[in-house]
Amino acid sequence: MKNGRKVIGVMTSGGDAPGMNAAIRAVVRTAISKRMIPVGIVKGYNGLLNEVYEEMDAGSVSNIIQTGGTILKTARCMEFYEADNRKKAYENAKKIGLDGLVVIGGDGSYQGAKYLSELGLPCIGIPGTIDNDISCTEYTIGYDTAMNTVVQCVDKLNDTSQSHERCSVVEVMGRHAGHIALNTGIATGAIQIITEEIPTPVEEIAAHIRKVRETGKDHFIVIVSEGYGNPVEIAEQIQEMTGIDSRATILGHIQRGGNPTLRDRVMATQMGYEAVSLLEEGMSNRVVALKGNRIVNYDIHEALKMKKGLDMGLYNIMMGTCY
Ligand code: ADP
Ligand code: F6P
Repeated sequence: MKNGRKVIGVMTSGGDAPGMNAAIRAVVRTAISKRMIPVGIVKGYNGLLNEVYEEMDAGSVSNIIQTGGTILKTARCMEFYEADNRKKAYENAKKIGLDGLVVIGGDGSYQGAKYLSELGLPCIGIPGTIDNDISCTEYTIGYDTAMNTVVQCVDKLNDTSQSHERCSVVEVMGRHAGHIALNTGIATGAIQIITEEIPTPVEEIAAHIRKVRETGKDHFIVIVSEGYGNPVEIAEQIQEMTGIDSRATILGHIQRGGNPTLRDRVMATQMGYEAVSLLEEGMSNRVVALKGNRIVNYDIHEALKMKKGLDMGLYNIMMGTCY
């Protein structure tokens, strides 16, 4: 508390995602509207451990809703896995005068927030990751922008694959989840996707390509979710098994950058507003989520126990249309 006003920290943690800036802006502006004092914690949990933070005002978040990355920087903080360090971070939070903390990140970051809540610092999580792999929520900030980036890149690859009658094997991100692969596979007219959830053998993909080639199609896109296997080897195998000249492309971190889409900006703003409102109501240890197009919240402990698989209905639609 400072001059009778609640002091609210905000940080980004784990991998960055487009739309994190929009979420920071929403947290800061909502806090100010509610007569709270927003404080930006720099580089995720490192900022709490090393006391790197800055008080923020409405101007500190102007002109960022449209930018990628995160103005607060982000990091993975290995020290936070140790209880002694978390205790130190909690004590620093008290020293700074924090009455609550909003953590924008993935479910790893939620674990840290859960521990801080247990120590006595009210924490609220906001889902921020391009992977959409947080079980409790249908949507994570950054997912839409990342998928649109993939679609733009694969459309370009498709042009050259068509000219050369090639097969393009494209690796996309997602950590262990195939949500990006599935949706971008549909959107780019891929002949097949390969993910950890549905690890279609290369022999099966090659057989499918051979069959479809008989209908006259002469260029192919295969989307591979990272974690499944080496896309260069997959391309070589497809070439060997089909005789079609094949190339591999790893899209990599380009998927994490760029201006957030409308969906990410609006979602980030709604979620940021909700997180501060929960702290205002005195809630702790909650995560904001999207369910059936409504913003809801869950206990972090419960949220971390939830499971979410690949959308099999969507997968079947893809399989029925990919030729
Ligand atoms: P994400 O939040 O995107 O899932 P990570 O899994 O890398 O990314 O987690 C981000 C950070 O959250 C970690 O570097 C660490 O500081 C903290 N964290 C993750 N898991 C735990 C845990 N089990 N206990 C304490 N802190 C954790
Ligand atoms: O979680 C986001 C993500 O981009 C994953 O898709 C990917 O597996 C990982 O982070 C890459 O991490 P780093 O930025 O540490 O290479």
